[in-house]
Amino acid sequence: MLDRLDQQSPDALLALIKMYEADPRDDKIDLGVGVYRTADGATPVFRAIKAAEKRLVDDQPTKAYLGPEGDMGFVHALVPHVFGDAGMRDGRIDGMQTPGGTGAVRLAVALAGKAGAQRIWMGTPSWPNHAQILADCGMEMGTFNHADADGSADMDALREVLGKAGENDAVLLHGACHNPTGVDYTNEEWDEIAALVKDRGVLPIIDLAYQGLGDGMDEDAYGLRTVLDAVPEALVAYSCDKNFGLYRDRVGALYVMGANTDDTARIMSNAASLARANWSMPPDHGGASVRIILQDEGLTGEWLAEVEEMRQRIGAVRAKLAEAGTAGAIDLTPLGAQKGMFAMLPVSKEQVQELREKHGVYMAGSGRINVAGLTMGNIDAFTNALAAVTG
Ligand code: LMR
Repeated sequence: MLDRLDQQSPDALLALIKMYEADPRDDKIDLGVGVYRTADGATPVFRAIKAAEKRLVDDQPTKAYLGPEGDMGFVHALVPHVFGDAGMRDGRIDGMQTPGGTGAVRLAVALAGKAGAQRIWMGTPSWPNHAQILADCGMEMGTFNHADADGSADMDALREVLGKAGENDAVLLHGACHNPTGVDYTNEEWDEIAALVKDRGVLPIIDLAYQGLGDGMDEDAYGLRTVLDAVPEALVAYSCDKNFGLYRDRVGALYVMGANTDDTARIMSNAASLARANWSMPPDHGGASVRIILQDEGLTGEWLAEVEEMRQRIGAVRAKLAEAGTAGAIDLTPLGAQKGMFAMLPVSKEQVQELREKHGVYMAGSGRINVAGLTMGNIDAFTNALAAVTG
């Protein structure tokens, strides 16, 4: 039976990790998968996480099963950071832990599908796994252009799509630090999106995977909070991969907001049964470490300072790239105003290959770079390589 399966290509983004590791050149530059790097090019475990892990090892009384919802202390401790002063909106919001942000997106799409959503709209380009998850869940995907050539969000495209969308439609929106373009909606645009989504009765699914790396923790949640203030129901997929540096520990959460507390409880019961059928329960270690941080004022302060350090460094790299102006045929100035870890460069697949093979610069085939992979020490080498390939 199994010989009927067609060969699948490896995930192109994840394949880059192995290609980069196998490259013996000392001056290679990794701008592939979205992993934050310090000014020294390292991805250390957060200081706050190390401290929390020590406490976890010393104090954890058992590793007995939790349940499909995982560590609810973790889920609730995140709430003020994600949802702000309005918190759980009088009990209309509840959540559960998921294996990474991917697990949360998967659960959100499955939940929307189970509730009868017929189509999910998504701005493109998007994180490639979004389309893959939709396809795997058997969900029809509608697309619209996310960003204009001038580097702003293409609001006309979104307006057009939402104008014809209806009650069986959902729209998947990046909360902040758009992956892959770095082009976020302005606060005024989020105000308009919230009103449009409400008017059309479209279910918003908001993917917030980079909170804190754009303009700040509260600033990056503006869109999410504004949409949630406007609509009766919403789904939020959250990731701690980047802002707690927990990539391989797979720490995420799905939050659901229903029209009232009874609805929320019913939606949660469906999320729990879908989770049980998918992964039974999420891995504990990373979520428990985040909980320990968020339940301790000192560690929370240390964590927020580490997020701020990341944000500042990404900003400095972006500013330096923008300052460079152009590299060959590539205008780098828009990168200064974009947010988060990613930017799209208008390079061809052949140029991406040449950058990798001749210059040791690794980036996604789409032309996406992980800005956080650049340091003050390798930016010039990168812009020179870009100029050599596109000039
Ligand atoms: C990325 O886009 O590079 C990250 O979100 C990692 C991943 O899982 O693709």
